[in-house]
Amino acid sequence: MNHAAVLKEVLEKRKSTFPKDYTDAPISDELIEEILGMAVLAPNHKRTKPWRFKVFQGQDKAALATEIQAIYKTVQPPALYLEKKYQDIGFKINKAGAVIAIVVNFSGLVPEWEEIAAVSMAVQNMYLACTANGVGCYWSSPKIVEHLKESLILDGNQRCLGLFYMGMV
Ligand SMILES: Cc1cc2nc3c(=O)[nH]c(=O)nc-3n(C[C@H](O)[C@H](O)[C@H](O)COP(=O)(O)O)c2cc1C
Repeated sequence: MNHAAVLKEVLEKRKSTFPKDYTDAPISDELIEEILGMAVLAPNHKRTKPWRFKVFQGQDKAALATEIQAIYKTVQPPALYLEKKYQDIGFKINKAGAVIAIVVNFSGLVPEWEEIAAVSMAVQNMYLACTANGVGCYWSSPKIVEHLKESLILDGNQRCLGLFYMGMV
């Protein structure tokens, strides 16, 4: 198959796959490295490389789930609190083989939107790399990630744009 046909097939196959459809098979460290290696091939203005990724696996991932559940309990007004939503947060993170925090680092050298765009292109590369490697994935962008303090420590010029869930399918 020529390059154009392979690319078209991967683009057509790319889709968001949610944790309930992941198997329990682990994702190897090598595969995560490979996927992040493809992420950073994305174009970026003035070569600011504005993406920062933090990979959560094992205990760190369990702690992330616990922290986000605790934040949900704190920030959600009692009248809007849903036990199902609380449980679902834990289920999704624990079911994923890995969760990657998507962070933009604003350099100040180019407009902020350009750096968010570059990070988004890196995430598209991750989606495509996952598709080509039989990994299910999706970008989740809940506002709650702005409250992370323990699992994710950010500098003043950085912002978390969400979580990238991954799991073998
Ligand atoms: C910037 C961005 C943020 C997203 N945030 C969420 C999210 O918070 N929750 C969710 O279920 N899907 C989220 N998605 C995934 C989209 O819902 C998904 O891409 C869309 O439904 C199309 O499905 P597809 O990816 O299978 O083509 C996000 C996608 C993008 C690009």
